[in-house]
Amino acid sequence: MDPKEIIEQLQLLTQQFVASLQNQSTEQAIRDLQAAYLSKKGKVGELQTSLGQVEPSQRKEVGQAFNKAKQTIVQSVTEAIDGLVKRAEEAYLNAHFDVTLPGRAPAQGHMHPLSIVMYDIVDVFTSMGFDVAQGPEIETDEYNFAKLNFPDDHPARDMQDTLFIEEGKTLLRTHMSPVQIRSMLERPLPVQVVAPGAVFRRDDDPTHSPMFFQIEGLLVDKGIHFGHLKGVLNTFLYQIFGEDVQTRFRPSFFPFTEPSVEVDIQCIYCKGKGCRLCSQTGWIEILGAGMVDPNVLEGVGIDSEMYSGFAFGLGVDRVAMLKYEGITSIKLFYENDPRFLERFRR
Ligand code: DAH
Repeated sequence: MDPKEIIEQLQLLTQQFVASLQNQSTEQAIRDLQAAYLSKKGKVGELQTSLGQVEPSQRKEVGQAFNKAKQTIVQSVTEAIDGLVKRAEEAYLNAHFDVTLPGRAPAQGHMHPLSIVMYDIVDVFTSMGFDVAQGPEIETDEYNFAKLNFPDDHPARDMQDTLFIEEGKTLLRTHMSPVQIRSMLERPLPVQVVAPGAVFRRDDDPTHSPMFFQIEGLLVDKGIHFGHLKGVLNTFLYQIFGEDVQTRFRPSFFPFTEPSVEVDIQCIYCKGKGCRLCSQTGWIEILGAGMVDPNVLEGVGIDSEMYSGFAFGLGVDRVAMLKYEGITSIKLFYENDPRFLERFRR
């Protein structure tokens, strides 16, 4: 057979193949079509038997034409099958998914209610010029008690109240007041700091958690008097509980302040009439405070004739419970139940 004719026929067969490929709708049909051309008895296969009759000098050219034709066929088979799979996938997605539905937003975290309240409180004090100070949760007995003027036989020093690491030496701080001592030792005068942080006590019932949060405040300068204490704390309480909240300063005792006070706000639920929340007193205690005891100042090397100061401490949980109605147990803040925490997304 004339080599030219063979090559022409080959081209024709290839075109035919590609054309009928378009009409196949299943993979099996495509494979059958491929066999009808490429198997030994197939159209290309049969034509190939004529290769033996071609002049040896021209065999190479014709052989290459066969290779090319087979390549074209195999390649278009692969493409056709890929196309089928893709169309099947699209059809499946169109039938099963409504692409116009809104997506599911990834769950986003938010601040814990105690953090929110802590930041709010600290913001009020920083706006009045207070710096934020920190101290370690593992404290020395010296800073937690001795330098704060606690007598040796004070009940807080008892194993029953304090979580000691090494009795008489190291402990989990029971209040934020040791940061007063650290701040006075570390900073130049005047010292004006607030210290938010976790504190620990041997307490565990519906109204007490063994770990809770406090914010301590301290201002030491020349000429500081009780009026400054009152002004700063009233400003703080108005900002947190509203301008119309009533406040009350009651004489009290703390080893590290003299005189000492406890500061109450009028019950925000019953407005002073008396209810369960305020134990029928009409008032709710928010802060401990006082003028820094001269012994404490002298203990950190500050001349108490020249300098004076005030200090205060408050429980963050208490403020949070008052700001968010209906929180029945302080424990809710520490259980991290998402159903509870979800309320505080903002
Ligand atoms: N440290 C006290 C406590 O944990 C709170 C406190 C009271 C801090 C009076 C003070 C203060 O700075 O002046 O109960």
